[in-house]
Amino acid sequence: MLQKTIKIGNFTTENNFFLAPLAGFSDFAMREICLNYGAGLTFTEMVSCKGILYDNENTKDLLYLSPKEKIKCAQIFGNDPYIMRKAIESEYLSNFDVIDINFGCPMPKIYNNGEGSALLNNPSLAEKIVYECSKTGKPITCKMRIGVTDGKFVTEDFVKAVHNGGAQMITVHGRTRDKIYAGEPNYEEIAKAKNVANVPIIANGGIFTKQDAISMMQNTGADGVMIARGALERPWIFAELLEKDVHIDKKSLINEHIDRLLTRLDDKTVAITFRKQLCLYLKGEKNSAELKQKLFTFKDTKSIKEELNNFFN
Ligand SMILES: Cc1cc2nc3c(=O)[nH]c(=O)nc-3n(C[C@H](O)[C@H](O)[C@H](O)COP(=O)(O)O)c2cc1C
Repeated sequence: MLQKTIKIGNFTTENNFFLAPLAGFSDFAMREICLNYGAGLTFTEMVSCKGILYDNENTKDLLYLSPKEKIKCAQIFGNDPYIMRKAIESEYLSNFDVIDINFGCPMPKIYNNGEGSALLNNPSLAEKIVYECSKTGKPITCKMRIGVTDGKFVTEDFVKAVHNGGAQMITVHGRTRDKIYAGEPNYEEIAKAKNVANVPIIANGGIFTKQDAISMMQNTGADGVMIARGALERPWIFAELLEKDVHIDKKSLINEHIDRLLTRLDDKTVAITFRKQLCLYLKGEKNSAELKQKLFTFKDTKSIKEELNNFFN
């Protein structure tokens, strides 16, 4: 498989198969699990630079780092170069090695605020943001989409802009904002990124299997892949990409995931917040509809574990 290391500033990843930033999912427990399966790099979910500067408690929680993370990457969003630099210089992000900037979030509340994918319309501001953030001395990476509207691609101009600003790695999600997460990724547009920047280009979008990752890399020439939903459903996809022998026992994996969450969160919070991830783990399991309904009524992890034990035995 097209495995190699990736250099980001002075950091070198063990491989080029990365876990994507995923709001509500890529917390410390999911990142630890993916790292154990061999992910080369993981990211926190996106955090607001304003939230950081206004000392938001929730933002602090999102930035909890696991000791297992060798290269610590946080993803931030915002649209004011000065505020974003200040956020990186703040105590909240002081333990992070690499800062990734979100230029892809399609959600209306972010887009209408001129943040995330809205910046695809404004490459010169994006360039200023990367330039200002790079003054912190931390390597700055970017995650972008190929445009806002299908057919009106901005890939080349946007990659050139953030590359000029000093981006040290660029992840290209091969979909426009209006596609949200649907449809095939556009290999051709991702390939264009590779031709206009001499920093690592990581391809993202629609990778659910090892074959998807191979096709993505072969068709785009990208240096690596970033996996989002595919890793939430099957975090062992990293082991498959690394051609490691891996025996999957879903019941043990779910128990392990719950136990990791319990090292930091109270039992009721885990029982409730883990439901959405649990659904992803159970995707494809025969006769699991009734089980999911039942699991969603539980407010303690012991009942969840007992019910799963009955289901899997
Ligand atoms: C629930 C969810 C949350 C996401 N949160 C983020 C985020 O915080 N930052 C980001 O850059 N992308 C985020 N994304 C986008 C993913 O990182 C990724 O670009 C997208 O899902 C396409 O990859 P996939 O087809 O492998 O899922 C999110 C996607 C989903 C489905």
